[in-house]
Amino acid sequence: MAGQFSIEPQRVDAPLTQSATFLVLSLVDRPETVRTVRSTLANLENLTKNVSIRDPSASFTCTTGIGSDAWDRLTGLPRPAELHPFPEIKGAAHTAVSTPGDLFFHIRSERRDLCFEFERQLLDCLGDTIVVVDETVGFRYFDLRDLLGFVDGTANPVGRAVPNSTLVAQEEDAAACGGSYIVVQKYVHDLKAWRSLSVEQQEAIIGRTKVENVELDDAPPDHQQAHKSLSTITDENGVEHSILRDNMPFGSPGSSEFGTYFIGYSRRLWVIEQMMQRMFIGSPPGSHDRLLDFSTPLTGTTFFAPSLSFLSSLDPD
Ligand code: HEM
Ligand SMILES: *[C@@H]1O[C@H](CO)[C@@H](O)[C@H](O)[C@H]1NC(C)=O
Ligand SMILES: *[C@@H]1O[C@H](CO)[C@@H](O)[C@H](O)[C@H]1NC(C)=O
Ligand SMILES: *[C@@H]1O[C@H](CO)[C@@H](O)[C@H](O)[C@H]1NC(C)=O
Repeated sequence: MAGQFSIEPQRVDAPLTQSATFLVLSLVDRPETVRTVRSTLANLENLTKNVSIRDPSASFTCTTGIGSDAWDRLTGLPRPAELHPFPEIKGAAHTAVSTPGDLFFHIRSERRDLCFEFERQLLDCLGDTIVVVDETVGFRYFDLRDLLGFVDGTANPVGRAVPNSTLVAQEEDAAACGGSYIVVQKYVHDLKAWRSLSVEQQEAIIGRTKVENVELDDAPPDHQQAHKSLSTITDENGVEHSILRDNMPFGSPGSSEFGTYFIGYSRRLWVIEQMMQRMFIGSPPGSHDRLLDFSTPLTGTTFFAPSLSFLSSLDPD
């Protein structure tokens, strides 16, 4: 009965907030695991409402992703067409590692306490059916800057281009309709080495000016390997494909940890994978993204965020 109800996506389009928690979990093999996780996922809308209502002005949202192995175990339904584990990418100098993860939660709010409270209630519901693989707490750094000092997120799609670049359409993959592929990588930076570069050298690596955040001209040969140029994807018909990035800084000066949590949402997984190929292998091969000489990924995991309607249909009862 097409058209009887419309598919409601998760809030992948939610704005960047002051605070975000990135939570990666693995399933534990227990008799109750599938039932507990399914009912928790089905109840997420309730859990979200319960926390967000405590301060409606704090823009609380949570988006949930499911990894490819867990997809089969939890849903028993066909996988989204492109969903597969994160493929390791080994360049001559740097490697994009592939690390485990069955469930992913991108928890966002203007208030750190709401993120904390939601995560606490969520983990209570999941109990010992999961183990935490990684928990990273990100924060806003000045005017949306990363810890390298550059404004991060400027080239993101806006308005109608957001669903266009993030949500799988009915005609592409009916079973995955209204969902979004998610790729995450937790990067740590060598800030001392980065700071030893001149601002001009840093700007040539990123492809934008530092203070004013203006795009540099693509024409000079060394600018063609700038991060912003390597991460621009154009298909064989000359059509450019964007993704939505919600990167956040994280870290702790006391333990010399300075990082960027990369998160990309995309309607097409191949677009993010091609960006990474170009960054780690280089285009042409051998000329990798020099951002990687100062940034090392500790994790790399792929998920699929199905629609809200799909999540609530997982209720075991
Ligand atoms: C250490 C990790 C990273 C840092 C610090 C970083 C930082 C930045 C900065 C500062 C910009 C320019 C401003 C903007 O348009 O947002 C940018 C652009 C961009 N980055 Fe990254 N990035 C990182 C990793 C990645 C990864 C892993 C991908 C994709 C797989 C990616 C994809 C993009 C894209 C698509 C653009 C926009 C290019 C354009 O159309 O101008 N970035 N990034
Ligand atoms: C959400 O909460 C309401 C009220 O507590 C309850 O009736 C409903 O069954 C819950 N929904 C799910 C999917 O658990
Ligand atoms: C909502 O939150 C309260 C505490 O803040 C908790 O006692 C209750 O179980 C929560 N309800 C749901 C549906 O998670
Ligand atoms: C939607 O994305 C395609 C490329 O993926 C692009 O050609 C088209 O202009 C986009 N439409 C809008 C409204 O952004």
